[in-house]
Amino acid sequence: MTIVKILGNIVILLSIIIGCIGRFQPHLFFKLPNGFILWALTGHPLPPFIIPGPFKEGNVDWLNDGDLIVTAAPKSGTTWMLFCSHQIRVKGDDEKFPYADVSLNTPWPELIQTPGDTWEIQREKYNTTVLADGTLFKNYWDHPEYPFRIFKSHNLPKGFGSLIGSDNPPKKVKFIAMARPALDQIASFIPFFVGKTDEFRKTWGGFPPVSIGTNAREQAKTVFSRTKPGNKWFDMTLPYVKSWWEVKDEDNVLLLHYSDAVKDLDGTVKKIADFLDVELSPEHHAKVVDRCSYKYMKGKQHLFEYQMPLNREFDGKRIVKSGSMIRKGTNGDGKVFFTDEEIAEFNKREEDFYGEDIDILDWHRHGSMK
Ligand SMILES: *[C@@H]1O[C@H](CO)[C@@H](O)[C@H](O)[C@H]1NC(C)=O
Repeated sequence: MTIVKILGNIVILLSIIIGCIGRFQPHLFFKLPNGFILWALTGHPLPPFIIPGPFKEGNVDWLNDGDLIVTAAPKSGTTWMLFCSHQIRVKGDDEKFPYADVSLNTPWPELIQTPGDTWEIQREKYNTTVLADGTLFKNYWDHPEYPFRIFKSHNLPKGFGSLIGSDNPPKKVKFIAMARPALDQIASFIPFFVGKTDEFRKTWGGFPPVSIGTNAREQAKTVFSRTKPGNKWFDMTLPYVKSWWEVKDEDNVLLLHYSDAVKDLDGTVKKIADFLDVELSPEHHAKVVDRCSYKYMKGKQHLFEYQMPLNREFDGKRIVKSGSMIRKGTNGDGKVFFTDEEIAEFNKREEDFYGEDIDILDWHRHGSMK
């Protein structure tokens, strides 16, 4: 055999092996450096750690009436609202109900924590996992004295099927959605991508790749183009807002705006508490508002770095690099990152997308309080 033939056979053999792994054990790819590429090439979705199971039609028996799903747009106040609704449900009582980590008290069911796990496996672990310190995971997210449980998501309404706005929902759960001025949101994708720990990326075969640009300008360019219509991240921006806007008057939906919450935290806490049917005395209200403040959360950053308690090998590690989660708590980031041309192009993108609907365009840009 000539060398070319031998090489040819090796290539064929390799692709057969890769095809088989891709078919039967695709999570093995994550053991390789940049293995996420083989994962994607063999037809599996990115990001690899998100699965659509938990809120799927016919699959929601594990939910309880009264559960809250915080489903803010990515980089639009999700962690903030998770923590704040937790403070509301426990009326600021950290002693009895310690908030150990955002993944413990207010977990994200759609985030698979161990490569290869399905929702069925992970779901079992929600009930049974004992943490390294001997405490039961279930006690953090499903404490018997909580008035309701809280879960994270980023879905658009279509990801929740008939849980929203039907006369006969399979479970009576509530939704808090949150939007943010889109340029600020998009600017915030940068620290989000470069802010994942190496340990997390190693768990997922190098995903997400850190190479979104070597300097701030290049990174801004990358996130700007990836959020264009027709691109993968587009859905998380304008379509997210439009589709939640369409269901905002449903009884079980509360649509908030990040800018309003920054300007009026006091009123926002009141609104959320009312929506959740929690009565806060003036003292409790003041305590909760303090807890939900940027200043308080900034001082507790280590609670917001996202552990993966269901993955033994990830013990003591975090998804998010220290300091990259609770960042500034202000409005107007986007203007700093993007060029005047990009901002103009973006404004047009918004206007084209919302069309005649001036109300929603105005609301998305500024919130209700100018
Ligand atoms: C945990 O166990 C209870 C009782 O068996 C069950 O009703 C519930 O659905 C389980 N939770 C999850 C997340 O599987």
